[in-house]
Amino acid sequence: MRSTGRQTVRDSRALESDLPTGVADSCELVEAAAWTDVVQAVSEQPGNTLGAHLGHAGVVPLPMVSALDYGPFNRVVGLGTGQAATEGQVDEIIHVYDGAGLSRYVISLSPLARPTELPDWFSARRFARGATVAKLWRDLAPPLEPTTDLRIELVTKSDPEAWARIQRAAWGMPAAMTAWFTAAVGREGWLHYLGFVGSTPVAAAAMYVSNGVGWLGFGATAPSYRHLGHHSGLISRRIRDAADLGCSMLVSETGEDSPRTPNPTFHNLVRHGFQLAYHKQDYTPGPDGEHRLRRDRDARPGS
Ligand SMILES: CC(C)(COP(=O)(O)OP(=O)(O)OC[C@H]1O[C@@H](n2cnc3c(N)ncnc32)[C@H](O)[C@@H]1OP(=O)(O)O)[C@@H](O)C(=O)NCCC(=O)NCCS
Repeated sequence: MRSTGRQTVRDSRALESDLPTGVADSCELVEAAAWTDVVQAVSEQPGNTLGAHLGHAGVVPLPMVSALDYGPFNRVVGLGTGQAATEGQVDEIIHVYDGAGLSRYVISLSPLARPTELPDWFSARRFARGATVAKLWRDLAPPLEPTTDLRIELVTKSDPEAWARIQRAAWGMPAAMTAWFTAAVGREGWLHYLGFVGSTPVAAAAMYVSNGVGWLGFGATAPSYRHLGHHSGLISRRIRDAADLGCSMLVSETGEDSPRTPNPTFHNLVRHGFQLAYHKQDYTPGPDGEHRLRRDRDARPGS
């Protein structure tokens, strides 16, 4: 056990437990749906300045943000969930990203993805293991009462910029990324939240609801307003709203929590009744780009 000074958070590994039927699939599918919808929304913006588009390998969407060629945005979620992946699908993923000229992308694999050989298929193609990610879920029991007097408002389509400003400040991103954050505001399934201290926007978050499952994401607090419970307050609000919307469960994903890299998001989610479902493993193409399918590359004109 570890004391945070407010409430005790147990070691993350100790939280892993057998998952009720269907929870693991829902965890992956809602994440894939949320991520896919953001990329779709960005691609539909006038001029598509970030070069967003969606490819497919079978039923699995392949999000691409060409202007960035940055792994965390070109992130494949849900492979081997719902229906077992095939080795052909793995090759297809490589083909599609290669074809789009993207060398940095991430396959975010659930430990329950099928078949069990799936990680080996990526290793055989010289993919490297990347980050470990914690997937958490919870039922709709009432949340902790917020300990902050943050005033929380829903963001409307007519005014998404303040929400985007908080996101950019929290993540240290340039103005060019505004489109990434504003695109999904007002779309079906999405709720965007902005927290104010007085009249100053200081914290932001979003929830995406699909098939009765709520996905919590985009938690962000402006650097000078951190450690005041604002993120915690936004979690609490989203749990309440999900219950009002009739959701059956909530899902979130964040970096692994460890003594060396303590993760406040993980702590807050656990404090609010989320349980660790499992740790996911990211796979990334080898640094030298030598993961490619040799026979296919050799067959390509001009190569
Ligand atoms: C992660 C992030 C959203 C947290 O926001 P925050 O508003 O500071 O979060 P909270 O204040 O609710 O909690 C953060 C810590 O402050 C502590 N805290 C909360 N209220 C407090 C108070 N009144 N006094 C002292 N500490 C307090 C919490 O216990 C927590 O500490 P812990 O990790 O040791 O448990 C923020 O750091 C951020 O925007 N980071 C960059 C973007 C990011 O990583 N987003 C999450 C993606 S998964």
